[in-house]
Amino acid sequence: MASVPFDSRDGVIWFDGQFVDWKDAKVHVLTHGLHYASAVFEGERAYGGAIFKSRQHAERLIESGRILGFKVPYSVDEIVAAKDETLARMGFENAYVRPIAWRGSEMMGVSAQNNTIHLAIAVWEWPSYFKPEERLKGIRLDIAEYRRPDPKTAPSRSKAAGLYMICTISKHAAEAKGYADAMMYDYRGYVAEATGANIFFVKDGKVHTPTPDCFLNGITRQTVIELAGRRGIEVVERHIMPEELGGFTECFICGTAAEVTPVSEIGPHVFKPATITETLMNDYMAEVQPKPAAVAAE
Ligand SMILES: Cc1ncc(COP(=O)(O)O)c(C=O)c1O
Repeated sequence: MASVPFDSRDGVIWFDGQFVDWKDAKVHVLTHGLHYASAVFEGERAYGGAIFKSRQHAERLIESGRILGFKVPYSVDEIVAAKDETLARMGFENAYVRPIAWRGSEMMGVSAQNNTIHLAIAVWEWPSYFKPEERLKGIRLDIAEYRRPDPKTAPSRSKAAGLYMICTISKHAAEAKGYADAMMYDYRGYVAEATGANIFFVKDGKVHTPTPDCFLNGITRQTVIELAGRRGIEVVERHIMPEELGGFTECFICGTAAEVTPVSEIGPHVFKPATITETLMNDYMAEVQPKPAAVAAE
């Protein structure tokens, strides 16, 4: 499946309220979202037929659009229902879910005040980002040249397509050097996150993670902080300096796609995935499993 291009697969895609054949879910080349990155998206996972934190992702999608100055023309309830129906039609239990909203083609300049807003939802099978047996060994991260921008420079609270430009450049550069991914600093030089996941460190039994003041406060990140709390593990959210990296013993990244993935190296710094990382990795995998309706939190 991995080798089949994404525009040539079988199935259906929810497109502006209708199901269309997967291969026909197309936009015109003169689409504002393509030229000016006026697009916002979500990345979600379904486990056992239920999309984890689906409402929260739908709320974030609408909020991301609002930050870019447009209104996604569907409610949270409608988006949640559309995602569930797409998953059911595709017949997957465990899958990745990708809603995307974008500005259409009515105007093709920087200003696009009257452009219609579109929404599409695709789901596909996507096993864990990193192979399970590789996980506990930890992945190796390069240090990216690009930095997460100042929130005064870019709409960093939005999951906006344009913000991924520097992520793809950084991940490609890391892969070219044999690394799995790259860790990015922020515009001030503090440790920020990976190209598609948040980052955590462990030292003396406590967890440390950068304050999300110029990058996405991931839904997985918030879940991991809650899970650590349930275990009585203290989590310190603060600015982390590059010089501190050598003092941490464990490191992991987390995100919807990456789930909880241990890290063994960042540039010259070496970490050994151990108890806290493994505990949170296992707790996360248990947490994402569907809950019986009576005890489901949402
Ligand atoms: C740049 C970036 N940071 C963090 C995250 C983690 O966010 P979440 O846990 O909501 O998937 C993602 C993934 O969506 C991401 O792309």
